[in-house]
Amino acid sequence: MGKTKVLIVGGTGYIGRRIVKESLAEGHITYVLQRPEIGLDIEKLQMLLSFKKQGARLVEASFSDHRSLVEAVKLVDVVICTMSGVHFRSHNILLQLKLVSGYIRFLPSEFGMDPARMGDAIEPGRVTFDEKMVVRRAIEDSKIPFTYVCGCCFAAYFVPNLSQLATLTPPKDKLFIYGDGNAKAVFMDEDDIATYTVKAINDPRTLNKTVYLRPPENVLSQTQLVDIWEKLSGKNLEKISISKEDFLASMKGTIRKRNGFYFYFLLLNYFKLLIYLTLKIRLDLGQIDPLTNYLMVNYHYLTVLP
Ligand SMILES: NC(=O)c1ccc[n+]([C@@H]2O[C@H](COP(=O)([O-])OP(=O)(O)OC[C@H]3O[C@@H](n4cnc5c(N)ncnc54)[C@H](OP(=O)(O)O)[C@@H]3O)[C@@H](O)[C@H]2O)c1
Repeated sequence: MGKTKVLIVGGTGYIGRRIVKESLAEGHITYVLQRPEIGLDIEKLQMLLSFKKQGARLVEASFSDHRSLVEAVKLVDVVICTMSGVHFRSHNILLQLKLVSGYIRFLPSEFGMDPARMGDAIEPGRVTFDEKMVVRRAIEDSKIPFTYVCGCCFAAYFVPNLSQLATLTPPKDKLFIYGDGNAKAVFMDEDDIATYTVKAINDPRTLNKTVYLRPPENVLSQTQLVDIWEKLSGKNLEKISISKEDFLASMKGTIRKRNGFYFYFLLLNYFKLLIYLTLKIRLDLGQIDPLTNYLMVNYHYLTVLP
């Protein structure tokens, strides 16, 4: 596959920085949007400069200056947007650029659960999926070539903490098991999401498709996550089952938007809506381009073992 001109929007973000790295590693001509709004944020600036040192081309543009965005988009064949969900409106502006810039493939900021399959998600976290669906509809209405990448649960957010709320590290003595703990989810290492996103960008088989990243060994229930951890750590944890009602009551008034992902993962366990495993899929990259090189959940445990 030939080298591609790629623009990454949101390149200093959690998933964005990984996609920049991977795009450079693949030898693509990699542009990274530099927003003047970062102002005095020295960390961001230094990250951008480090991308430049590695071969990226920084392109200055602002969401409040439409012309600058158009000029940035005109430089490339593929735009990968990795902005955080809360910046959905800016994201929506970005896709309007397609109307003036020809046939560039657009990867909207997704990479998590498939919003098209989250219609039954519960407020308040469902706003994330609703907003992503608004962007999808705008893309499809505008006939913009697209690829949606769904990686489900980011491993660092959901694995080491055994999917407990309010912590990213393993529980020491006890943990909550949600419902019967048997509903399965897909866990994907963030660097691997970046790798397979970049693999997908100029592959004709992924054009106008949703790509599901589902490493077979990483499709696990909460009970399985806990079992693996207990074996590795050599320590048994006290398990407290929590019912849907108690869980919802405990969350009342405490959910911050940032925790929306946890919230939905947990609720999905109750309602058994993790339909990734049962629904017919449109395209599973694993079937056409085997996910041979990915990190299993054990890796995430090994990094946090005492
Ligand atoms: N399923 C999961 O487990 C999971 C977990 C986390 C995230 N996600 C998904 O992954 C995607 C990326 O999330 P993330 O956590 O990587 O995001 P993030 O790190 O919070 O932010 C990404 C970038 O968005 C840009 N941005 C911030 N404010 C902006 C503004 N006002 N206007 C324009 N750009 C702005 C910034 O990039 P620059 O300053 O470089 O422009 C920022 O670094 C989202 O779609 C999210 O839903 C899924």
